[in-house]
Amino acid sequence: MSCFSMGTVYLLRLLHLFTGISVLQQTRSWKIVLPSTVTAVEGTCVVVRCQTEPYSRVTWYQYHDIYYPVVYDGVYPSTVEHQFRGRTKLLGEPAEGNCTLRIDDMRPTDNNIKVYVWVNPGTKTNQKFYQQTVTILVERKAPSITILKQIVAGEIFQVKCSIKYSCPFSPPSLHWSIRPALENSTSIAFIEEEQGQWLYTATMEGLGTYKMHNTTIRCSAQFKIFTAESQQITLSVLYKPVTVTLILKEELVTEGGSIIMECAANCNPQAHMYSWLRRQMGHIKKINSTQNNMSFSNITRNTSLSCIAHNAIGVGQSKWLDLDVQYAPVILPEPSCYVAGEILRCICQAEASPNASISWTIDGNNTLPSSFESRYINKKNVVSGEIGGPAKSQTNVSCTAWNSRGRDTKYLSIRNLSKTSHLPMWLSASAFMLLGIGLLFGCAIFICRKHSTNRPQSSLNNVQQEQRYSSLQRSQYEDRQLSPHRLENNPDNDGLSCIYDNDFVENPQRPTRAHECKNNATALQMEGNNQLLAQVQ
Ligand SMILES: *[C@@H]1O[C@H](CO)[C@@H](O)[C@H](O)[C@H]1NC(C)=O
Ligand SMILES: *[C@@H]1O[C@H](CO)[C@@H](O)[C@H](O)[C@H]1NC(C)=O
Ligand SMILES: *[C@@H]1O[C@H](CO)[C@@H](O)[C@H](O)[C@H]1NC(C)=O
Ligand SMILES: *[C@@H]1O[C@H](CO)[C@@H](O)[C@H](O)[C@H]1NC(C)=O
Ligand SMILES: *[C@@H]1O[C@H](CO)[C@@H](O)[C@H](O)[C@H]1NC(C)=O
Ligand SMILES: *[C@@H]1O[C@H](CO)[C@@H](O)[C@H](O)[C@H]1NC(C)=O
Ligand SMILES: *[C@@H]1O[C@H](CO)[C@@H](O)[C@H](O)[C@H]1NC(C)=O
Ligand SMILES: *[C@@H]1O[C@H](CO)[C@@H](O)[C@H](O)[C@H]1NC(C)=O
Ligand SMILES: *[C@@H]1O[C@H](CO)[C@@H](O)[C@H](O)[C@H]1NC(C)=O
Ligand SMILES: *[C@@H]1O[C@H](CO)[C@@H](O)[C@H](O)[C@H]1NC(C)=O
Ligand SMILES: *[C@@H]1O[C@H](CO)[C@@H](O)[C@H](O)[C@H]1NC(C)=O
Repeated sequence: MSCFSMGTVYLLRLLHLFTGISVLQQTRSWKIVLPSTVTAVEGTCVVVRCQTEPYSRVTWYQYHDIYYPVVYDGVYPSTVEHQFRGRTKLLGEPAEGNCTLRIDDMRPTDNNIKVYVWVNPGTKTNQKFYQQTVTILVERKAPSITILKQIVAGEIFQVKCSIKYSCPFSPPSLHWSIRPALENSTSIAFIEEEQGQWLYTATMEGLGTYKMHNTTIRCSAQFKIFTAESQQITLSVLYKPVTVTLILKEELVTEGGSIIMECAANCNPQAHMYSWLRRQMGHIKKINSTQNNMSFSNITRNTSLSCIAHNAIGVGQSKWLDLDVQYAPVILPEPSCYVAGEILRCICQAEASPNASISWTIDGNNTLPSSFESRYINKKNVVSGEIGGPAKSQTNVSCTAWNSRGRDTKYLSIRNLSKTSHLPMWLSASAFMLLGIGLLFGCAIFICRKHSTNRPQSSLNNVQQEQRYSSLQRSQYEDRQLSPHRLENNPDNDGLSCIYDNDFVENPQRPTRAHECKNNATALQMEGNNQLLAQVQ
């Protein structure tokens, strides 16, 4: 280089003055290659690359108009400016002419400083080292977060977080913050150099779930002295309808009325079609609609509804909703009253929803005499009512079933079963013999089963009474709730078809054996005997 003439040097200087390029600056004795600017990321270190000819010692200075603040001095470290003390280090090998400088912990106050290198300070030179400076810019960088593609439930998703930094020696660490936490996600990281800076990237991946929808995610880069956060992203996950719920808009569903149902589906995107299912007596009818509400008319009892929501990802069906349909009471066929001995009994059953209440009117009086007892049994919308009391000269009994939807009244005919109640003893005995013969005959034909039954009371009337009772009310006593007034004569013999007592006359209080034939034909036989008895009387 010394062969350059003064004129050439002058020309070069002039050129630099005009172009501002100082990368290849020619000095009289040392050729120094320096970048004109270096961008540092706050919180990390910065490396100022420097190349010259083999040297014995270098010092670095901050450019200043008046004095010479020392940035690096390997021989007299105490001369280093307080601002840089302990933060600067020479990386290059002197023998290789490598004068590269590293400054740690870049901070905002370092922004825009200019530094220059002095090669072999202390030796005589005319070189104006301060004329070739490096401007250091300090930037604060935040990590950037990106979602690689639309997240779909059931598919692998990837979220990337990257941060640029200026120092290869102390990369920041990257952290994810996700609320709520993601299950089973993994994170991998890699570093790449990009135009003198480094890019640190962490990629999180896992299986997308619908629960991730609407969760927020951000990442942060932790530097030595501060943490920089990325922007927050709200995840949007595509998923098929996961929960589908039918909502009944009405408080009351009445038979024959109409209702509006709403189908609420948890899915993304919104459902574009709904299939409405109406199940009635086992038959299912399907209607497609784009609306999430649907009106159903002519509602009948035992109707169930369901809806299926369709979106771009899949379908989901709601549970079946069994409608609680309200209807007015209907008194079931054959309410009846009968007189047995001194007792009048009446039975009335009504189906209704809500459960019906039953009231009685005896000869125009709707207040039951205090000598009467009553009980009511509810069984799946069927209410059974029964009253009993002393038989007088009642002629007209009616039963009324009512609920909030309406009422139903039926008049009950009274049958007198007491025709044999005052039979003389001998007649009763012969009647019993006839009955016994008839029964034996009947049971010989059909299969008879024996079992013990406790009988509270015994008379022929009672036999007849219980037959009647059981055939009328067979199923009613399966689920009984007694009213405070317990009925004394309480037939417990479910499924009785025919009965006779061995010793009912002699000892009415003793538990007796009853033979039961579980066959209706035997019952008919019994009926025949009763008629026979009536004739005897
Ligand atoms: C100078 O030293 C630095 C730090 O050791 C190194 O990264 C760089 O490559 C060296 N420069 C040359 C030209 O070898
Ligand atoms: C997460 O991993 C555990 C164990 O490997 C597994 O039981 C669970 O189902 C996984 N959860 C998800 C959402 O994949
Ligand atoms: C998402 O979250 C926001 C706020 O937490 C809430 O207002 C919005 O309803 C949510 N959206 C869904 C689809 O869950
Ligand atoms: C309703 O939509 C489903 C699904 O697209 C289709 O299979 C069905 O045939 C449609 N039914 C009617 C009645 O349109
Ligand atoms: C369903 O909802 C839409 C808008 O919410 C309304 O315009 C429409 O009348 C509703 N349909 C029924 C049957 O209620
Ligand atoms: C309701 O049922 C009645 C009798 O079954 C029928 O005439 C009527 O058309 C039905 N109405 C609707 C809207 O289905
Ligand atoms: C309603 O359904 C029940 C069984 O689910 C059945 O026992 C009953 O007879 C049905 N009632 C009517 C009126 O169909
Ligand atoms: C109805 O019967 C009740 C109870 O036996 C009795 O107190 C009342 O006076 C009777 N009312 C009429 C109008 O007969
Ligand atoms: C109707 O009776 C049934 C059977 O006893 C009972 O389970 C149900 O709770 C009753 N309903 C009302 C509204 O009282
Ligand atoms: C019972 O009374 C009702 C009205 O109170 C009357 O219409 C009916 O004819 C009466 N029945 C008998 C058998 O007296
Ligand atoms: C039932 O019949 C018996 C015998 O015939 C008779 O004494 C009694 O008064 C009758 N009772 C009624 C309530 O009719």
